[in-house]
Amino acid sequence: MTVDVAKTRHPYLDGKPKRLLIDGKWLEAASGKTFETINPATGELLAQVAEGGAEDIDLAVAAARRAFEGAWGRTKPYERQKILLRLADLLEKNFEEFAALDTIDMGAPITRTRGNQQRAVGMLRYYAGQAVSIHGETVDNSLPGEFVSYTLKEPVGVIGAIIPWNAPLSSSIWKIGPALATGCTVVLKPAEEAPLTPLRLGELCLEAGVPPGVVNVVPGFGETAGAALAAHHGVDKVAFTGSHFTGQKIVQASSGNLKRVSLELGGKSPDIVFADADLEAAVPGAAMAVFANSGQICSAGTRLFVERKVYEEFTARVAAYGKSLRVGDGRDDMTQVGPLVSSEQLERVTGYLAIGRQEGAKPLAGGERLTEGALSKGFFVPPTVFANVNDEMRIAQEEIFGPVISAIPFDDIEEVARRANATSFGLGSGVWTRDVTKAHKLARAIRAGSVWINCYQAMDPAMPFGGYKLSGYGREGGKDHVNEYLNVKAVWIKTG
Ligand code: NAI
Ligand code: MG
Repeated sequence: MTVDVAKTRHPYLDGKPKRLLIDGKWLEAASGKTFETINPATGELLAQVAEGGAEDIDLAVAAARRAFEGAWGRTKPYERQKILLRLADLLEKNFEEFAALDTIDMGAPITRTRGNQQRAVGMLRYYAGQAVSIHGETVDNSLPGEFVSYTLKEPVGVIGAIIPWNAPLSSSIWKIGPALATGCTVVLKPAEEAPLTPLRLGELCLEAGVPPGVVNVVPGFGETAGAALAAHHGVDKVAFTGSHFTGQKIVQASSGNLKRVSLELGGKSPDIVFADADLEAAVPGAAMAVFANSGQICSAGTRLFVERKVYEEFTARVAAYGKSLRVGDGRDDMTQVGPLVSSEQLERVTGYLAIGRQEGAKPLAGGERLTEGALSKGFFVPPTVFANVNDEMRIAQEEIFGPVISAIPFDDIEEVARRANATSFGLGSGVWTRDVTKAHKLARAIRAGSVWINCYQAMDPAMPFGGYKLSGYGREGGKDHVNEYLNVKAVWIKTG
């Protein structure tokens, strides 16, 4: 189906409140409460959504437990693979609708949400492959006498998945996919800012034949629904994506039953440009490493280190590139930079713009909220490049989560490696150079989960993604991801 999102009402918006998906049924919240989700480009109300709370989380966790202990827990790998492949086909068929839903609920340009198709569908097909590739090992032991020893890989159980708003579809798939592959069950708590795509994906799971209770979707607020899920003793693992502040709360909440936790948190990632780089490629590369999704990407390359001899030229070119980008409503095909997700996020980002100026940084592009014409109704901040930044400034240390580059000069490779690592985070990093020695040296020296060389933000379902330090632990994508949803059991048989 083609959805002309600029002209028509989205087919998912039927005017009725959206309900919680629990045990294959669509339920109102136990409290009867709802909350509003809006389009951040216009402020317009999209839908009322049932506001899940602790009681609803209880119901959902109980349903997920029953499903795990029931027939789903005994499904063969091949059956789980078939379900994942069906889900992938359905998503592919309906992709335009999903892209449009992400765009209106969180603001990203439609070209970006559409461009996500290969990866989103590809992830489901990758997990479908993983479903039939799970296996333990036969291990030779050295005990006296005769013993056979082998390992089994078993699903961890009930997964509490808590996701943010910056990529609702991909984040949902990153939690549901490995759960279905391994035979786990899920209670997914979407972000309050963008609950629509996860709910619609829940509907698609039912259509694909995912049994009731295996995938539950309970929107609600972090302090209530999220906190209840993180602390719940019926949950075996929490898979969280979001801020490190919330990540720390989740670790604390998890201690009651020592549930397993994986955390994909924020960053302040270094992007390092050497004078010998292909600057034609590095200018748009470094710019979009931050301006894509209006900077609302955990691994955005927001600390832009530029070799001093090209610092002025390069930062001027990145600023010019930023100014050339079209800011507007994500539904417009021509839009390259959409709004920020919410008024809170707008306040946070404009707060940092003021801090940057007070600290003495110089805006070469952007620097103020946009309020002209139709933009005044939404939460728009233009691509911003700050020069005159030093390592100690707050805009060089704290995650802004907006389209804001802090450009910092450097002189040599040892120095830049040290300064790149002088942060509490360690998620992404970039290196732009034609010198293979520098590239390899930095690939090892940088303490971060991903290093992109002469590119930024490349992602594939088969590659692991995750953090060092305050950026969290655990990996999403690749085999490491599937292993996070599995327990290893040792089996011993005395045969002599
Ligand atoms: P957040 O980390 O508070 O929210 C992420 C998710 O956690 C949401 O579903 C929220 O409802 C839930 N949550 C909040 N408090 C919780 C609690 N006590 N227990 C359990 N779940 C809880 O992030 P927020 O407030 O949306 O954004 C604030 C800042 O966090 C951003 O400006 C950005 O710097 C960072 N952030 C980083 C993300 C990333 O991908 N690394 C994603 C979103 C935000
Ligand atoms: Mg919204």
